[in-house]
Amino acid sequence: MSKKIFSGVQPTGNLHLGNYLGAIKNFVDLNNDKDNKCIFCVVDLHAITVRQDPEKLKNNIRETVATFIASGIDPKKSIIFNQSRVAAHAEGAWILSCVARMGWLNRMTQFKEKAGKDKEKASIGLYSYPVLMAADILLYDATHVPVGDDQKQHLELCRDIAQKFNNDFDVENFLQVPEPLIQKEFSRIMSLKDGSKKMSKSELSDLSRINLTDNKDEIINKIKKAKTDPLPMPQDIKELDERLEAKNLLGIYSSLTNSKLENSIKNFSGKNFSEFKEQLAEELVNKIEPISNEIKKLLEDKKFLDEILLDGVEKANMIASKKIERIKEIVGF
Ligand code: TYM
Repeated sequence: MSKKIFSGVQPTGNLHLGNYLGAIKNFVDLNNDKDNKCIFCVVDLHAITVRQDPEKLKNNIRETVATFIASGIDPKKSIIFNQSRVAAHAEGAWILSCVARMGWLNRMTQFKEKAGKDKEKASIGLYSYPVLMAADILLYDATHVPVGDDQKQHLELCRDIAQKFNNDFDVENFLQVPEPLIQKEFSRIMSLKDGSKKMSKSELSDLSRINLTDNKDEIINKIKKAKTDPLPMPQDIKELDERLEAKNLLGIYSSLTNSKLENSIKNFSGKNFSEFKEQLAEELVNKIEPISNEIKKLLEDKKFLDEILLDGVEKANMIASKKIERIKEIVGF
């Protein structure tokens, strides 16, 4: 069955292994299936929900495009564009924010995590961001949305918004209710310094993540310094519930080598972490170093990256502007 795929990545710098294994790797597979129509969005409107340096943001937008391409997304097969250039996203977000309920947004755990203790000082954008995300998806009638596990709740909200819009305005099936595409395993890559925390761009210590722009030495060094525990490598999957760092590293290894977690456990069972870490670093270098080199090369040609975005914006606009016109008619404008 042909799928309409939509997903987005924030251009906030430091794209990392979590973004890659949780989402971008999946984008590449979906892009390679000729039956799919894929749209990958650099969500710059989402990025400004927390303060961004304007000059850095410009570069991060290009770096995100470069990362997509370096990872294997073909801009001839997929639409790659930046959100702020397609006005329908902001318009759609407003209309849908009048459909979404406060009670629904109040349940969003990511807002609670990101806003921290002082949520009175968080931007309104940070609070309403899942509604913008719903607009992103619904404007393109996306049937499937590949994301990491942390976006699951936002996708459920998107489904609720679509259903409520269709019901409120009596337009059955007008907004396509999308299916999340979340990998069963390894959809949440954790920090290298704390197996209970998600690997993230905002974590202060750079040693907590493998950036997609890291070079060989940086990757090897970060894996050497990755937190483990004093026991030998686990012998049974049941041990992993208590040994979060081992679980995360074995998960990363399994995801990179496309193997089952059980098999990776068997391979390294009872060995020292140092032996396992060497192999893990080797797999990471094989996978990430070529991407990192390609990103750096692509970033030298700003014109090329800008042209991809321009082309993508034009194509995205053709789809989204039609949908937003229908939405406006439906609500009575
Ligand atoms: P963002 O930019 O935080 O992350 C981009 C993608 O990477 C995934 N991800 C992870 N996966 C596994 N382990 C991790 N540690 C990890 N960290 C990040 C995310 O789940 C995501 O798939 N709101 C979204 C962007 C967005 C979007 C959309 C996505 C905006 N509009 C529409 C899908 C459809 C976000 O902030 O992702």
